[in-house]
Amino acid sequence: MANVTFSSPRMKKDLTVYAIAGDTKTLLAVAKANNIPLDFECENGECGSCQLQVTVLSGNTPHGVALTEKEKTVLKLAGKITAQQIADAETKDLPPPWRLACQFIVRNEDIVVKF
Ligand code: FES
Repeated sequence: MANVTFSSPRMKKDLTVYAIAGDTKTLLAVAKANNIPLDFECENGECGSCQLQVTVLSGNTPHGVALTEKEKTVLKLAGKITAQQIADAETKDLPPPWRLACQFIVRNEDIVVKF
């Protein structure tokens, strides 16, 4: 079980929802299931409209670090992550600051999502 806290100026207050681990749901799917007003268009990692910041709360090594190729391309073009941050995610398990909700798979860890 993972707690996913959504935080945005577009919401009256932060909302924490429970995501079932092993469900392999994207963050976008979790947001949609909970009526979170998250922007999205393509749902396929191409438009970049679902960009958001993800912070892992647990002190353990983050699980969902791996970026998809589409995430790398879109976030780099948008200036949200650097080549170094991509390399750090791949070699040091350092979570990058920005993700695409439609590409990020929710794992068994608590996260805060800002958009
Ligand atoms: Fe288009 Fe996520 S909805 S990149």
